Amino acid sequence: MSSTLENTFTLVVLLLLGTNLASLAMSRRTLHEAALVQAHEQWMAQYGRTYANDSEKEMRLKIFKENLHYVESFNNEANNKTYKLSLNRFADYTNDEFLVYFTGNKIPISTESSGEESKPFIYESLTDVADSVNWRDRGAVTPVKDQGSCGSCWAFSAVAAVEGITQIKTGSLYSLSEQQLVDCVMKNDGCNGGSKNFAFEYIQNNGITTEANYPYQEQRYDCQAGTTSVVQISGYQQVPPNNEEERLKAVSVQPVSVSIDANGTSFKYYKSGVFTGPCGTSPHHAVTFVGYGTAEDGTKYWLLKNSWGEDWGENGFMRLERYVASPEGLCGIAIRPSFPIA
Ligand SMILES: *[C@@H]1O[C@H](CO)[C@@H](O)[C@H](O)[C@H]1NC(C)=O
Ligand SMILES: *[C@@H]1O[C@H](CO)[C@@H](O)[C@H](O)[C@H]1NC(C)=O
Ligand SMILES: *[C@@H]1O[C@H](CO)[C@@H](O)[C@H](O)[C@H]1NC(C)=O
Repeated sequence: MSSTLENTFTLVVLLLLGTNLASLAMSRRTLHEAALVQAHEQWMAQYGRTYANDSEKEMRLKIFKENLHYVESFNNEANNKTYKLSLNRFADYTNDEFLVYFTGNKIPISTESSGEESKPFIYESLTDVADSVNWRDRGAVTPVKDQGSCGSCWAFSAVAAVEGITQIKTGSLYSLSEQQLVDCVMKNDGCNGGSKNFAFEYIQNNGITTEANYPYQEQRYDCQAGTTSVVQISGYQQVPPNNEEERLKAVSVQPVSVSIDANGTSFKYYKSGVFTGPCGTSPHHAVTFVGYGTAEDGTKYWLLKNSWGEDWGENGFMRLERYVASPEGLCGIAIRPSFPIA
């Protein structure tokens, strides 16, 4: 039966049954609404989310619906996107809340310390750069962590880079303490944001202990005195900004800490594939590049470790397009990458 015929048939049946068309339209809308409410309930159960009262719940449901709509239409559009989205635990936060709770690269670039900028970039003369590198496969990357509702991305970004260079130099992979940085890096502002370079500076001066010795709390507390240092670095350095080739050299040798603009619905709900934007170029989040490669369709990407748990992206990682036309890179990743020196 053709669909027009089918529709006519349905209409005739409904008329025969005495169904009022206005009430039919109404009940369809009610049905749709009920499905959304149910989707929200299921999502709340999945993520253990609870609300203080009914008005809070109503407000969150409204945000949830908008985000659900965005994700579904994005995935259903024939938009030739190389990536997919999924509703994750950020589904009932407004964009402003999301940026406050889950990012945190706050220190303006002009006031950020820049390490050994006076010295030449240590990997400058590197010539034989591999086509692809995956520090995860080489055992230099700890399991994906979760900053929770705390703007401490800067600590996670710095720690992942230090974990990486330590494993590369010593063969031992330690999971190191973000909490020590959140509590003790006085130039930063704990859960209210900070700079990965101040974190490196602190580790250079004080060393850092393990995650097990000083576990993550998702809040800033007093700095624990007498913390035993397990890992030390001798310094840190900027990768020359807006320079794809130099960045590639650095990541080919070790994981690199990167500031990034994560302010966008697509970035927030990224699930799989190579992320190609849209996103801005005002970095207020920090992540770690732990490799690079080329996807099956030929798109070149950076492999990025985030600190939003394994639920986000490809088990906590993202593949982000590299070799984009703009010098500042996709999402501003080329503006301020830096790395620890063992
Ligand atoms: C509901 O909870 C929210 C969040 O805790 C609070 O701001 C608001 O005042 C509460 N509203 C009522 C009616 O209790
Ligand atoms: C998708 O890609 C194909 C082939 O490159 C192109 O012909 C088509 O116009 C694109 N569609 C959209 C919606 O961009
Ligand atoms: C995030 O992006 C939106 C839309 O482009 C913009 O209005 C807002 O100012 C941005 N927020 C921050 C903190 O950059």
